[in-house]
Amino acid sequence: MSYKVSVTREIPDPGLPMVKEIAPDARVNPHDRVLTREELLDYVKGCDGVLCLLTDPIDAEVFDAAGPQCKIFANYAVGYNNIDVDAATERGILITNTPGVLTDATADHAWALLFSTARRIVEADEYMRAGKFEGWGPMMFLGGDITGKTLGIVGAGRIGTAFALKSKGFNMKVLYYDLSRNDELESELGATKVDLDTLMEQSDYVSVHVALTDETTHLIDADKLGKMKSSAYLINTARGPVVDEVALIEALKSGSIAGAGLDVFEDEPEMKPGLADCKTAVIVPHIASATIWTRSKMAEMAASNLTAGLKGETPPNLVNPEAAK
Ligand code: DGY
Repeated sequence: MSYKVSVTREIPDPGLPMVKEIAPDARVNPHDRVLTREELLDYVKGCDGVLCLLTDPIDAEVFDAAGPQCKIFANYAVGYNNIDVDAATERGILITNTPGVLTDATADHAWALLFSTARRIVEADEYMRAGKFEGWGPMMFLGGDITGKTLGIVGAGRIGTAFALKSKGFNMKVLYYDLSRNDELESELGATKVDLDTLMEQSDYVSVHVALTDETTHLIDADKLGKMKSSAYLINTARGPVVDEVALIEALKSGSIAGAGLDVFEDEPEMKPGLADCKTAVIVPHIASATIWTRSKMAEMAASNLTAGLKGETPPNLVNPEAAK
């Protein structure tokens, strides 16, 4: 049986060879860029399955362009806010993601942002490269302490938990905000579940780890940012729209918070005007999962999900089991 498959952008090995095993004629976007809307609609046309990326907006129009024979869209990401899952379910199309394999890479990266923001690593690096270092100075690049401080976790799921557990060596007090109680954090770290206002008020570092949904859009808004200490830092490795970026820029510019480490942006790949001028922000291009091992595992998982869906089996990482009924 031969399947018609499209891959919306090249992914690392072993992803493409695995896709080619089940769909030797799979069409792969040859450009190192996101497909335009027109191209995407053309790529999915008549497909039995599509391997897509978090940068592809997949909605009813895309599913209809694919056609009624389409079985699966396998997303190359753990987050699937780019996909209208209800529209897929209505059409009996399976949606899958790649959970688990990027937990540590993302949590590690949140720490990298926390350290580089608090200790002003990027600014200091620029200073050295500009040849400005003329000798040690008592007031140079003063930043925030980390050991013994209070860490606030917004969203204590897989990644939030892994991030919090890595604080062990820094003897931090851990607060978390989540709908559910997290026994592991409470027993391992003595962490305390608090409401979001308390977390914002008491934390020295607030790290965001919630999935993007209607409820979490602008969860961190001007009001919540206004509750933070002026010495506190915000880290976001989740999704840009969870934080009101305009309000964040205002908080950074006014110094009402000490800094922010951002991997994700509200209108990715754009930044809201003014963010790039904020010296107390460390800003990187959505690279939290960008380790060689992780990206390769994500590719393997996405290809396995796609293969199972094409064969009529239940993919290992199905997010809408109702679609299979
Ligand atoms: C994901 O998988 O959702 C990540 O954002 C990719 O880095």
